[in-house]
Amino acid sequence: MKKKRPDGSLAVFPGSFDPITNGHLDIVDRGLSLFDRVRMAILVNPEKQPLFSVEERLALIREAYRGNSRVEVDTFSGLLVDYAERVGASVILRGIRAISDFEYEFQMALMNRRLDPQIETVFMMPAESYSYVSSRLVKEVFQLGGRVSDLVPPVVERRLSEKYGTPIRLPRSPVRRKG
Ligand code: PNS
Repeated sequence: MKKKRPDGSLAVFPGSFDPITNGHLDIVDRGLSLFDRVRMAILVNPEKQPLFSVEERLALIREAYRGNSRVEVDTFSGLLVDYAERVGASVILRGIRAISDFEYEFQMALMNRRLDPQIETVFMMPAESYSYVSSRLVKEVFQLGGRVSDLVPPVVERRLSEKYGTPIRLPRSPVRRKG
C-alpha cells in the first residue's frame, strides 16, 4: 500500500536551467494544469561549468515568475528522489521535446523509480514551437549574434546581453517590395 504524502499536488521540476527558456516555462504552465504547485529545482553540480551561477539562475527564475505563488524555485544537490521526499513532492515533472530526449529521460525515470517507488515521473510535451529549443542552443545562438527573443523570457535575454556584452538585436524589418 502506498504511503499518502502530505501534499500530493506538488511537482518537482528538476534541471540545470542554464538558463531557463520558454520551453521550460511551457512545461511549468502545463504542470500547473495538473498540480497545485510546481517547484523548479536547480541541480547544484560542481562538476559542470555553467554560464549562470546557481544564484543567477535562481534570480532569473524568480524574476520570470514574480507574483506567481504557485511556482517555487529552489536548489538541490544529491539524489533528486531524496530532495522530492524532503519537500513532500510525489511527482517529478520533466519535459520531452523529441524522441532523442526519450532514452535519457526514460533511464532517469526508471532509476528514480527504483530508488523511490513512491515518486512518479510525469512527462509533458512542450508546444511544437519549442521542440528544438534548448538552453545550450540559446547560449550558442546568442553568443554568435542570433536573436533569441522568442525563445527566452525577456529577463534572460537582458542577462545574456550583459554577460556577453552584446547589444540585443532587433528583428529584421520585412523586405518591402516595390509596387
Ligand atoms: O536539465 P538537465 O541537466 O537535463 O537535468 C538533469 C537532472 C538535474 C534532472 C538530473 O541530472 C538529476 O536529477 N540529477 C540529480 C542526481 C540524481 O538523482 N541522479 C540519479 C537519478 S538519474
